[in-house]
Amino acid sequence: MEKQSQDRTHVAQSYQVRPLDETESKENMPAVSDAARHMGEFDPTKTLNTSANTKIDVRHTNFFYGPKQALYDVSLPLRDRQVTALIGPSGCGKSTFLRTLNRMNDLIPGTRTEGEAVFDNFNIYDKKTDVVLLRQRIGMVFQRPNPFPKSIFENVAFGLKVQGKSQKFIHERVEASLRGAALWDEVKDRLNTSALGLSGGQQQRLCIARALAVEPEVLLMDEPCSALDPIATLKIEELITDLVKDFTIVIVTHNMQQASRVSHFTGFFLSGKLIEVAPTVDIFEHPHQKETEDYISGRFG
Ligand SMILES: Nc1ncnc2c1ncn2[C@@H]1O[C@H](COP(=O)(O)OP(=O)(O)OP(=O)(O)O)[C@@H](O)[C@H]1O
Ligand SMILES: [Mg+2]
Repeated sequence: MEKQSQDRTHVAQSYQVRPLDETESKENMPAVSDAARHMGEFDPTKTLNTSANTKIDVRHTNFFYGPKQALYDVSLPLRDRQVTALIGPSGCGKSTFLRTLNRMNDLIPGTRTEGEAVFDNFNIYDKKTDVVLLRQRIGMVFQRPNPFPKSIFENVAFGLKVQGKSQKFIHERVEASLRGAALWDEVKDRLNTSALGLSGGQQQRLCIARALAVEPEVLLMDEPCSALDPIATLKIEELITDLVKDFTIVIVTHNMQQASRVSHFTGFFLSGKLIEVAPTVDIFEHPHQKETEDYISGRFG
């Protein structure tokens, strides 16, 4: 247990995010959006596309932290312009899996990935993959909003400046990204003030805008609402529903209502194995595997 929490601290430090305290609950999200669902705002069953192209085809992935294996023979297609939710009990490998997709685990010494994740005819895990370019194409949003201690504008412009884009282009993209993240109206008059002055929910939308600025194709979100209040959660969920028209989204969530509100497909992980992946309605209403049924009916985890 102590080793595990050290490991977590280590991972968190790599990404400059604070690990969850033992006292913090992850199940802190009331079913606020049930009302929204009744109003028809969220209904992924209407946009489910079971024949959507595979954006990233994960095949037989094994993952190791040194000698410790954390993922076992995971295969799943991540469908283009659909939301795939990853659920499962703490420690089952959801974050590890998400990080294999944009090679964020490379930052942890002694890790090793086997198998394939085919993206645009290349294998993400290949040593030859340009990880800087990969992370532009596959952006990531973390559990806790982690804006840089810079202005709102500079946060969103950051990646574009690294790319050496022109001032004009940067200004246009910053506005488009903030609009895309449903934040523009709230910040357009204070772009040069510190991002740290924003509320938690606004900071998370800023982080989404920062990811959108470099025009990714895939967005990875690791429990993006777990540090947010119910209203901010609702906004992020609305945003996900909107963004998926243009992007492929993979979201880790501990909140099963959230998975059913926003995702088209759900994968259930247990002890490093993908037990089952299917359209979200099927996972929640007719799971094929007993383990899935036990988990969604709250018998463990
Ligand atoms: N840096 C690390 N070094 C060694 N083991 C690690 C490291 N990070 C995670 N692990 C281990 O890998 C396994 C999967 O962890 P992971 O963080 O992927 O789980 P998770 O499903 O995201 O859990 P949670 O729901 O608590 O976020 C766990 O046993 C964990 O202790
Ligand atoms: Mg995790």
